[in-house]
Amino acid sequence: MKSKLNFNTNWEYAEAPENRDHIQLNKQYDLFINGQFVAPTKGKYFNTLNPATGKKLASIAEGTAEDVEKAVQAARHAYDKYWSKLSAKDRGKYIYRIARLIQERAREFAVIESLDGGKPIRESKAVDIPLSAAHFFYYAGWADKLDYAFPNRRSSPVGVAGQIIPWNFPLLMAAWKLAPALATGNTVVLKPAETTPLTALKLAELLQEADLPPGVVNIVTGAGATGAAIVNHPDIDKIAFTGSTEVGKLIQNSIAGTNKKVTLELGGKAANIILEDATIDQAVEGIVNGIYFNQGHVCCAGSRLFVQESIEDLVIQKLKDRMETLIVGDPLDKNTDIGAINSKSQLETIEKYIEVGKGEGAQFFQSSCSLPSTGGYWCRPTLFTQTSQSHRIVQEEIFGPVLAVQSFRTFEEVLTKANNTFYGLSAGVWTDKGSKIFKMTNKLRAGVVWANTYNKFDPTSPFGGYKESGFGREGGLHGLLPYLNLN
Ligand code: NAI
Ligand code: MG
Repeated sequence: MKSKLNFNTNWEYAEAPENRDHIQLNKQYDLFINGQFVAPTKGKYFNTLNPATGKKLASIAEGTAEDVEKAVQAARHAYDKYWSKLSAKDRGKYIYRIARLIQERAREFAVIESLDGGKPIRESKAVDIPLSAAHFFYYAGWADKLDYAFPNRRSSPVGVAGQIIPWNFPLLMAAWKLAPALATGNTVVLKPAETTPLTALKLAELLQEADLPPGVVNIVTGAGATGAAIVNHPDIDKIAFTGSTEVGKLIQNSIAGTNKKVTLELGGKAANIILEDATIDQAVEGIVNGIYFNQGHVCCAGSRLFVQESIEDLVIQKLKDRMETLIVGDPLDKNTDIGAINSKSQLETIEKYIEVGKGEGAQFFQSSCSLPSTGGYWCRPTLFTQTSQSHRIVQEEIFGPVLAVQSFRTFEEVLTKANNTFYGLSAGVWTDKGSKIFKMTNKLRAGVVWANTYNKFDPTSPFGGYKESGFGREGGLHGLLPYLNLN
């Protein structure tokens, strides 16, 4: 091992792969409808791959409109006959049980999440799985306290919720959707993303273990067409969607004129703003955490960096030095900072944007790290400096480890630039002065603004967007609202 104590040193770490012997994956997974795994009507299956190798992990049932019909019927039946009649306290008990079982099986879920989606095991273990359990714990607590959440109002469940989730936080997004829906007395048809269905299917096994009554949660796997069948089903009362703005708009069009409620959590192009009085090393760590960890597959990724002019050179130099130390590698290795890009098509999108950035005349920098030679989909942490507002890499969501930097002189300038985007999901501010934080956060048009930190989540805190980042809030007391009718 080289051991110069220099920030630029390329440390060589011994491999530290997570043990996967305790993981049991079936060769084939069916749909989870009415408490049972059932074969898809048309008998079709697709593959889910390990993006670190490009190799198949399992065959997954492709749900059709007929299967969605069965799932919605099961959810309606469970709602009418059982779940909506159960006492709130008992509903809460089931949700607590789910939370505890996730905790018990946390290691298994973490490994499967990293295998199926490519994210570093460190992230799955420290963030995805514990936060998923925390969401179930938190909403379990609300189940019998809805009268306190909304005093002097009478609340009732909406009915059957259709929930469609993406591939960047597979289990966590399932938890964000399921926990408040169940706590408020709804039943659910959930569709995981086609590249990352495994933890949702493992969750189905866990729901059986928790003795959740059949039909309360149904999990129908498939791609866009399966999602569209859920959206268009007439007996679904509410749609909750997280994913691309493009599909969000399609969903809104499809349900226009119906009575369906909807919440959409869509893309982002978050501004991370570093003022000259910020603690620079801490800010650099926050920038790295905001865009490079989890491969930039984060809707609230800090993908636009605004640095005050007087510290621009210093911040960029420190950032480049830090980028050189990041390890792109096996998602199951505990040393890995940046895992595999989730799919071939997402890698192609990212590579396309890197070419666009070069073509737009921005200055390009990539860390010199080696990439694994295991097959699979990889991208080095990438930085574009001297970008401008009109650049596509500044305006469009890339959803990869690609950061676009601009400098600024005044507050007014940076606020105008930061808000000049179609999106408004999140932002970050780094400064030593509390007064500056308040001044900035008041004017930033973003659902979440982090101050001197980034990408921090807690189930008690609402999350959601402005503008084309969607509407409705998930998390916290606010997250109960989309699943309730209030009188
Ligand atoms: P997507 O929006 O197509 O996929 C999200 C989910 O929607 C998946 O479960 C998918 O099967 C489903 N879906 C697709 N078409 C549908 C339709 N017509 N009706 C109902 N459901 C449908 O996102 P995709 O193609 O995986 O990623 C494309 C881009 O979207 C990414 O590059 C990224 O910029 C953005 N994205 C944003 C996410 C976020 O968390 N806000 C998450 C994933 C992607
Ligand atoms: Mg996969």
